[in-house]
Amino acid sequence: MGLVTLVDLLKDADSRKYAVGGFVLVNLEWLQAVAEAAQRKQSPLCLCIAQVHFDFVDMEALAPAIHQASKQLPVPVAVHLDHGKTLDAIMRAIKCGFTSVMFDGSDLPFEENVEMTRRIVDFAHSVGVSVEAELGAVGGGYGKVEGGEAPPPELLTDPLQAAEFVRRTNCDALAVAIGTVHGKYKGKPKLDFERLKKIRELTDVPLVLHGGSGIPPEDVKRAIELGVRKINIYYDMQKSATDRIRELINRDGENVTYPDIMSACKQGVREAVEYYMDVFASSGKCSAPNILCRNCQACSHAERVSLSLSDEELARRIAIAVAEALKGGNPQ
Ligand code: CO
Ligand code: CO
Repeated sequence: MGLVTLVDLLKDADSRKYAVGGFVLVNLEWLQAVAEAAQRKQSPLCLCIAQVHFDFVDMEALAPAIHQASKQLPVPVAVHLDHGKTLDAIMRAIKCGFTSVMFDGSDLPFEENVEMTRRIVDFAHSVGVSVEAELGAVGGGYGKVEGGEAPPPELLTDPLQAAEFVRRTNCDALAVAIGTVHGKYKGKPKLDFERLKKIRELTDVPLVLHGGSGIPPEDVKRAIELGVRKINIYYDMQKSATDRIRELINRDGENVTYPDIMSACKQGVREAVEYYMDVFASSGKCSAPNILCRNCQACSHAERVSLSLSDEELARRIAIAVAEALKGGNPQ
């Protein structure tokens, strides 16, 4: 199916009441693990690179691999810059061919956040790129409150301000602060559903939750009912990978090789991603009209390919897809 914008991805999520995982990648193993999870779960996907990881993540080097993987996957994929804080990072992501960027002006005073977001939206839309914006403070590393605790109510997203913000910026998706935390939660997550409900009533864009790792399934379900259409995951992916690597080393000690560690890492990331695809109800939602999509049970389109497809027919379709790809179009 290949690349789509975040708008397209979230439109489908909205019409079928599920949330897309915004899975943050740090290297090739993670990309392979997430792609495999999406294929196994037949789940639409948002692949993210985070500006906060630029010290150890090479966005320009990873982008071609991300595009290649996205084109081959039988599910729609948005490629997204997470927490773009500077114009430079956003321009770089757009140059890399990302279909979506986040501008996070949540640290700025309201008027400045509106002004910066509006300008970035104007530019991004002129080149067909979607924009996620943020209003209010999410807890943990990137927000105003450190150490895993949810910010106090006065720092959370104000519903009336959210309505004004969306109207004035024309953003495509809004990340809201309702008590979620980046990284590890201190105690049980306490989400402000009343606030989320009010934001939903007053705005008409898909809502995004950051700090998705560790939110209990029943809370995720409620958030989806109240209009959340994308949920970001990073912490649990790295924790699951690290746990698997630690288990391996504890078990096999000196015999562990580097490729063993890569496999353990991939397994850990894939398990975390598959878990969240189920929790977000994005599993099984692949409806991409992709002629190479042999296993997508959800496809309702005329192009749906049955498992009884003959090898000759498959070869013919692959040849058409390759010719299309060489012409630069998306295989349909
Ligand atoms: Co975030
Ligand atoms: Co399909």
